[in-house]
Amino acid sequence: MEVIICKDSREASIKAARLVEHQVRSKPRSVLGLATGATPLGLYGELVRMHREDALDFSKVTTFNLDEYLGLPPSDERSYRYFMYSNFFDKVNIPEENINIPDGMAEDVVRHCADYEYRIKRAGGIDIQILGIGVDGHIGFNEPSSSFTSRTRIKTLAPQTIKDNSRFFGGDESKVPEHVITMGIGTVMESRMCVLMAFGESKADAVSACVEGGISIVCPASVLQLHPNAKIIVDEAAAGKLKLADYYKWVYSKKPSWQVDI
Ligand code: GLP
Repeated sequence: MEVIICKDSREASIKAARLVEHQVRSKPRSVLGLATGATPLGLYGELVRMHREDALDFSKVTTFNLDEYLGLPPSDERSYRYFMYSNFFDKVNIPEENINIPDGMAEDVVRHCADYEYRIKRAGGIDIQILGIGVDGHIGFNEPSSSFTSRTRIKTLAPQTIKDNSRFFGGDESKVPEHVITMGIGTVMESRMCVLMAFGESKADAVSACVEGGISIVCPASVLQLHPNAKIIVDEAAAGKLKLADYYKWVYSKKPSWQVDI
């Protein structure tokens, strides 16, 4: 794991965007795994800026989103599909046919999930998977107790996640769908690089469990300790409970110049 502690979420978002930029410029047919939530908004904003001002071309890129609520049509402003189009896809040049998001209205969910896995494989696998983290340590919608070898499937949200995400549903927990489709932890772990971002004090416990806790399904994100190329990009507040914070900063300051400069 490489832990990169930034002074704020803006600096962190720019670093994550530089990773994606490097990936897309060096392999135009890159496959990106994308996440929703407030955390990656700065990253998407920076990628849109790079597209408009620095000619970052997404015309050959393919994307796979992590998750979607079951029962929300694409036109629903609270669906992750709507989120992705309004915050990113409508502003860059990824061909419509290259965009993949789990279908919250799928009639045959099991079949849809198997097909999603097949599409990821057919695309050649995911080059960079962007991840946020829930306060309970979930990645995608893989709640605590999710199997580390799980694949794309239906999940039931934990009450904590329903509470946290109710802010997007007018604060009404009863309006948050209880079921979702999410890429599995096994699916995420097959990505060639994972970039987990976390900002703010509310994420400090989850980040500490993810980076320095035992590897356990109690904190699904802790599985990233087993990933050969995982980067954890956090702000000072989210890094607040890391015991080895000074060491991570030291390592980053000594990073060899030939490594990708972010
Ligand atoms: C949701 C998403 C996750 C995201 C998490 C944190 O549950 N399914 O992918 O990481 O929220 O969201 P936020 O970034 O808004 O804190």
